[in-house]
Amino acid sequence: MDINDLQEKILDLKKKNDVCILAHSYQNKAITEIADFTGDSFQLSVMAEKASQKNIVMCGVRFMAETVKLLSPEKKVLLANPDAGCPMADQMDRDMINMIKTEYPNYTVVAYINTTAELKTVCDICVTSSSAVKIVKALPNKDILFIPDCNLGDYVAKQVPEKNLKLLQGGCPIHGKVTEKDVLEAKKLHPNAFIMAHPECKPEVLKHANFIGSTSAILNRAIEGGEQEYIIGTELSIAEHLSFCCPDKKFYMLSKHLICDDMKATTLMDVYRAVAGEGGEEIILDEDTMRDARKCIDKMIELG
Ligand code: 13P
Ligand code: SF4
Repeated sequence: MDINDLQEKILDLKKKNDVCILAHSYQNKAITEIADFTGDSFQLSVMAEKASQKNIVMCGVRFMAETVKLLSPEKKVLLANPDAGCPMADQMDRDMINMIKTEYPNYTVVAYINTTAELKTVCDICVTSSSAVKIVKALPNKDILFIPDCNLGDYVAKQVPEKNLKLLQGGCPIHGKVTEKDVLEAKKLHPNAFIMAHPECKPEVLKHANFIGSTSAILNRAIEGGEQEYIIGTELSIAEHLSFCCPDKKFYMLSKHLICDDMKATTLMDVYRAVAGEGGEEIILDEDTMRDARKCIDKMIELG
């Protein structure tokens, strides 16, 4: 069976089984083509709540499927590939943060959405890369413990200098691998290119960027921008989607390391099995986790 046939089968089954397919923008084109909605992590969480279908198949990583479940407890939420996790989300756990909180009792704990549902239960509010600056600015408290991504935290701290951000040593192993040398080399090779980077990159990389934003913000900026050449400082799929939708523009990767194996773990066959009810993993969260982690997400949506 070729890709088109498999996509047709998924589209038929999706209707028959009342399934909404959500895909993060890092997913392959074969998957984004059959998704009901593709977007960054903030957009996906909002769309999940609005979806009228009873079943949701998430093509992304585990924390995204957990976020969908938190927002739509009455829906059956399947993670298309149960092995797709985000290594950053597993860097810190509830006990560790509870211990750190005792040292900083008056701090508001802000969690990047790339955290487990369990960790969210001990945090005050979530942020995504697209909402972090706006939300931190809007918080009444000056003192903020920002977890787990110190690169995103550093970026936010620079945008909101009136706040005091305490950062920990966490971050994305993929974006964190990009070096300043990579940017200097890319600039030398493509001197006229407009440089775009995700805020999960290190500060010494971000300082060279012409534009810093979430996956969707990068996509939109490149689609709408008047420049002809772009250096992409986020996952490879973004450059691939852009090359497809803007064939007249040129897109170069900032580093060959910008490939997230977890985001690439989901195949069209995984989506087929999940939609057919023969695969994927149903996300089940206990009542306490649902209640306490949801507060964090609700506050994010309210302020974001
Ligand atoms: P976005 O919030 O920009 O979609 O990023 C999610 C992510 O995992 C980036 O690595
Ligand atoms: Fe997690 Fe980084 Fe992969 Fe995003 S790119 S899912 S933050 S490991």
